[in-house]
Amino acid sequence: MASLDVARSRAAFPALSSGYLYADNAGGSQCLTDAATRISDYLLNTNVQLGADYSVSVASTTRVEDGAEAARELFNAESVDEVAFGSSATMLLANLARAMDGDVHPDEELIVTGEHEANGGPWKHLAERRGATTKLWQATQLSATPNNPYAVGLQLEELLTLITAKTRLVAFTACSNILGSIIPVKDVVIAIRARAAELGARKVEVCVDCVAYAPHRLMDVRGWDVDYAVFSVYKVYGPHASVLYTRRAALTRSLSSLAHHFLAPAVAAKPYKLQPGGPGYEIVWGCTAVPPYLRALGDGNLEEAIARIARHEQTLLAPLLAFLRSKSARGVRIVGAEHEGLDRVPTVSFVVVGERAIRSQDVVARFDAKGNIGIRYGHFYAYTLVSSLSPSLDVEDGVVRISLVHYNTLEEVVKIIEVLEEILA
Ligand SMILES: Cc1ncc(COP(=O)(O)O)c(C=O)c1O
Repeated sequence: MASLDVARSRAAFPALSSGYLYADNAGGSQCLTDAATRISDYLLNTNVQLGADYSVSVASTTRVEDGAEAARELFNAESVDEVAFGSSATMLLANLARAMDGDVHPDEELIVTGEHEANGGPWKHLAERRGATTKLWQATQLSATPNNPYAVGLQLEELLTLITAKTRLVAFTACSNILGSIIPVKDVVIAIRARAAELGARKVEVCVDCVAYAPHRLMDVRGWDVDYAVFSVYKVYGPHASVLYTRRAALTRSLSSLAHHFLAPAVAAKPYKLQPGGPGYEIVWGCTAVPPYLRALGDGNLEEAIARIARHEQTLLAPLLAFLRSKSARGVRIVGAEHEGLDRVPTVSFVVVGERAIRSQDVVARFDAKGNIGIRYGHFYAYTLVSSLSPSLDVEDGVVRISLVHYNTLEEVVKIIEVLEEILA
């Protein structure tokens, strides 16, 4: 089994050569040199409107089409006509829910999680507009660690109790941006569809938020059998753009057009119906740098690259979790699963509670004072999840989050642990 060439991966990100330790990657990763080069080249050499017949417009149109192909490959979607670009996952999901207004009945139910509100809020608003109901798939105590009340996760049994004949949509995260835990999407979708069919639900669609998942694992919208999925390229080593996958059948049967009225017939089966106005073309072209970079890490094979990334990330995760577990008597509580494993990514959250509690804000301030390590605290917009943790926390103070990706190194983890040792002394 070949391992990841971390030095090679780091060389693709100029920011990493400064020695600054980037450990807030779940907020946004560093961007590839090649993405910046492409953006600059687009702006300097092909910066015209798309769709005209003159040669430069033909070139810019092709570049934006290549961006859609890059997203299709990363999603493993069937067609480029299933991907829409936007500036954020939050905006794309809000647009998606708007477009579904006409296909949700007043007595129907939408199931959401307490994870990042991007895949919760739009469905709550849709339910309000339609007089439908939302139900919460709550994270519950993990049986492996009954002594840590913050060791929680989304569990399938909990979800299955929420499904009824009125279920219309299930919206969940493939990976939690707080807990770091990965949901077995394929198995969950099979279980949702089987239970819904058994109960006679009219139509159940699944919308999966892959924003915290895509930097660490391979997406497979076809294998998963999901209707909608979203990820943000700025967390997958590219520029600030996001992409929405919409299954072709859902595009035509479940969604109305948000585009100008006179475009409606032309966009009936096109992602542009969810994209009122063009995306930033140079940014879409910049996104095409991501698949070749990833493939190269697996000697030309994307699957191999992600397998190497996942194995390397486990070597970062294990010592960090082991250290935090060793500080349990000091009041450290990991928020999420306490042990490494391929069902967990190196997004590690914790709190310091008890007689010598330390606010998350104060832990992060000690890192900030060092000036060379970037981590963060808060609820990270998983407001419902963080406010449901019990014993309750100050939701604004939230958790301390250290989020690593494949370009982080073991030496960096050791540095982080050294700072934590000082803080917890
Ligand atoms: C799990 C998850 N979903 C959604 C989002 C929102 O993504 P965007 O900033 O592209 O709207 C984030 C951002 O942190 C996230 O972590």
